[in-house]
Amino acid sequence: MSTPSHISIRNLSVHYGLGHKVLGERLVVKAIDDVSLDIPKGSFFGLVGESGSGKTTLGRAILKAAPITSGHVRYNDGEAEFDIANIGKAELKDYRKRAQLIFQDPYAALSPRMTVRDIIAEPLEVMGLTSSRDETDERVREIAAKCRLNLEHLRRFPHAFSGGQRQRISIARALVCQPKFIVADESVAALDVSIQADILNLLRTLQEDMDITFLFISHDLSVVAHTCDQVAVMYLGSIVETAPSRELFSTPRHPYTKALLSAIPSLDPDDRGRAQKLEGEIPSPANVPSGCRFHTRCPIAKDNCRVDAPAWRELAPEHMVACHYADETVAAAPL
Ligand SMILES: Nc1ncnc2c1ncn2[C@@H]1O[C@H](COP(=O)(O)OP(=O)(O)OP(=O)(O)O)[C@@H](O)[C@H]1O
Ligand SMILES: [Mg+2]
Repeated sequence: MSTPSHISIRNLSVHYGLGHKVLGERLVVKAIDDVSLDIPKGSFFGLVGESGSGKTTLGRAILKAAPITSGHVRYNDGEAEFDIANIGKAELKDYRKRAQLIFQDPYAALSPRMTVRDIIAEPLEVMGLTSSRDETDERVREIAAKCRLNLEHLRRFPHAFSGGQRQRISIARALVCQPKFIVADESVAALDVSIQADILNLLRTLQEDMDITFLFISHDLSVVAHTCDQVAVMYLGSIVETAPSRELFSTPRHPYTKALLSAIPSLDPDDRGRAQKLEGEIPSPANVPSGCRFHTRCPIAKDNCRVDAPAWRELAPEHMVACHYADETVAAAPL
């Protein structure tokens, strides 16, 4: 039996209407366009794609921090269930305890005028989760230790810390309310490679210890390949492929995924220099191409790709892809 979904997304769209008109038409940015996706409970789920593909917007929509234009996001951690598009004020308060964001930039995210203790304690205090200062301090000490922060550091201010330490503070703040679901948006992108590995190890340990589901957003495929259980690949507001991580990186089926991997020699499954390079830039989400939205850059596009949007289909267990010719891309791969 497959693992139950913690997050179940159906036909989700996040469209932003821009104020001005171009040639008499109001521009609509389709940041997320008809996305369906399941994030299994307890998984470390990767979301990859070029800049502007909609990764952050998807993470924010799940957290009710981006406006949902249509579709559904359902949350179920086994104890509580929410319909995020229609969530009420009182439920949202509970949801905020259960679903949290770890920011990308540990420098910008931490208030320079607050001590580390106060930074970590703030969510507990804002949500009224503790009844005394002693209890708050106890919870702060507990999570700080789990995040491998030295307890003496709690009295200091964030400027005294390195990037890796600041990211630990951010993580402690996100986890102090004992959330069940975390969106980690480019959480290691700003760090040196050696520190990245350290933070990734910490996140995986915390995930297991605290039974958390992670949505790990990254444009760095090598980080995702080594960290995530499952991966979804996003292109121009749409998911084009999902698979268990090992399978996605050994047998990518969508030409976009193949192109992303071929740009990283150590991850290129062909490794023969023959994989296609991705030409051009991602089109504007205010002007999404017809048919398959990847056809303007696709090395194997045929005439029908300009007209017909490909169906979302399962090519192997848990391996889903949206491409008319995904079977052929496999057949064409060298043995
Ligand atoms: N509030 C907004 N109003 C208008 N357009 C927006 C808004 N938020 C995001 N967008 C647009 O939606 C698209 C997707 O943006 P998003 O930030 O989700 O991409 P991303 O994949 O996270 O990119 P990056 O890797 O650079 O972080 C972009 O074209 C962006 O300009
Ligand atoms: Mg982003």
